[in-house]
Amino acid sequence: MTAEPTLKAATEFTNPNLEVLFSQQQISDRIRDLGAEITRDYLEKDLVLVSVLKGSCVFLADLMRAIDLKMTIDFMSVSSYKNELKSTGDVEILKDLSNSIRGKDVLVVEDIIDTGLTLTRLLEILGSRGANSIKLASFLDKPEPRINKALQIDYTGFVVPNKFVVGYGLDAAGRYRNLPFIAVVKDPSRA
Ligand code: IMP
Ligand code: MG
Repeated sequence: MTAEPTLKAATEFTNPNLEVLFSQQQISDRIRDLGAEITRDYLEKDLVLVSVLKGSCVFLADLMRAIDLKMTIDFMSVSSYKNELKSTGDVEILKDLSNSIRGKDVLVVEDIIDTGLTLTRLLEILGSRGANSIKLASFLDKPEPRINKALQIDYTGFVVPNKFVVGYGLDAAGRYRNLPFIAVVKDPSRA
């Protein structure tokens, strides 16, 4: 018979290797304000939220329910080449939008802007498709590593320090997306 462990293992939500940066309550308060702001700005517009998979799915789900307008959503998935030696800043479209954005007011929804290279290229691609307007909402802004300093984020949830953060859709090697808060991994070698 195997002995019962005396200490219950920490769950992912209580993982001692995580330091909470923004709590569930702070996040929901911020999203309510962002939603109200977007609602005011898009009253007379034809809004479509374009979510960049996978990281922004949690932000999209909360943000769309804080926007009190007639609107639609669509998804895109891109892979960036930023980890390759030859950094072209180019992206490959893995999944394109399902519907045309011609004449629409597009709000691109991202999880985090870091170097800004992925979004710069994505905005160029979307910019050639006849939208009425294209703006950017990012849950997190990590300004320090930014390469494209000219990239404008129209709606920002929180500004974060130059540390690797996880949770609320953001992953480290595919894990932690399900955390309901934003956290810093204290010791990446134990992640
Ligand atoms: P960049 O702005 O082109 O450098 O790429 C941004 C993308 O890198 C985001 O959409 C995330 O997928 C990923 N990323 C950047 N910083 C972090 C982080 O701190 N945690 C998790 N993913 C990150
Ligand atoms: Mg991403």
